[in-house]
Amino acid sequence: MSGCQIDNSAIRPIRFFNGVCQMLDQRLLPAEEVWHDYQDYQGVAEAIRSMVVRGAPAIGVAAAIGAWFGARDIETESSEAFFAEFEKVCAVLAATRPTAVNLFWALERMQSFARANLDRSVLELKIGLEYEALAITQEDEQLCIKLGRQGQHLIADGARVLTHCNAGALATAGYGTALGVIRAAVAAGKKISVIADETRPFLQGARLTAWELQRDKIPVTLICDNMAGYLMSKGEIDCVIVGADRIAANGDVANKIGTYTVAILAREHNIPFYVAAPISTIDLSLDDGSQIPIEERDAREITHLGEQQLAPEGVAVRNPAFDVTPNRLVTAIVTERGVAQGDYLQQLKKLADSRTG
Ligand code: MRU
Repeated sequence: MSGCQIDNSAIRPIRFFNGVCQMLDQRLLPAEEVWHDYQDYQGVAEAIRSMVVRGAPAIGVAAAIGAWFGARDIETESSEAFFAEFEKVCAVLAATRPTAVNLFWALERMQSFARANLDRSVLELKIGLEYEALAITQEDEQLCIKLGRQGQHLIADGARVLTHCNAGALATAGYGTALGVIRAAVAAGKKISVIADETRPFLQGARLTAWELQRDKIPVTLICDNMAGYLMSKGEIDCVIVGADRIAANGDVANKIGTYTVAILAREHNIPFYVAAPISTIDLSLDDGSQIPIEERDAREITHLGEQQLAPEGVAVRNPAFDVTPNRLVTAIVTERGVAQGDYLQQLKKLADSRTG
């Protein structure tokens, strides 16, 4: 598929046209494919918080669209008053989930546009912000395709690739990051099979990764999270590739809870551990991963499976949704602008400062 062609069969979890945003409810997959309509920023904020939409790049795209809804509905003729209200809208969207930096990146891009154009009329600002939200949406899928091409050479023909969580089309505007690399390797003619960790407690691997790979006819085998070490010890995994929610300047990687465990296991078994993420996931303002805010989610995600109670009433629960993998365990970081390996501090800065090729 060339970067310019539109593949209408491709999975795109967010649709945005005619002033309406539709999102595929990822809480209900794979049992049901339900789309919801959104037309205001409060609705989009709730969709991000409740994980109708999830995955770092997809959250960024949704936030940009939500910010535009908020902007569109501000009633004033004064650009300064408009900007003050717009900042409040962005603050509501920013308060939904703390770890994925793409959310803040997208909101900052929307705010910078408004800030840089305060000499324009409110109507012009609103039109410009709609264009910016559309651009963020369209660019995301295109950069995933570029990222896939940058990374596919890391995956050998015949490789059995372990992935954790869902860093696929469902987690982006389309195509995916970690699964984008796998899609690009398959498109290059390689025979790849994927082992998907189920990813407790939200089951993004079982529900989403398995669903989207099956749909694209890429061979996938589902395992429970605690089976990865066994398969590695049996020589059944050739490499690991995961996405990221935030990457600190030194290459420490925050991703779905359990990623750190997989990285340790990969190191023990001498298996390459790759991370695939767009430049917008790199947070050069943080020196290392200890500064990345880690979201703690509701205990009910662990004590219950739907309506089914799994644990005794009142038991103490911890539910951190992400962990941090130290840079020393990361073999390479694939971005749309190239692959960083070795001295992440220097290389990530260079990639972030470079222009997209
Ligand atoms: O809680 P989620 O489902 O939003 O977490 C998603 C992940 O951790 C993904 O691996 C990450 O966002 C990368 S998605 C391209």
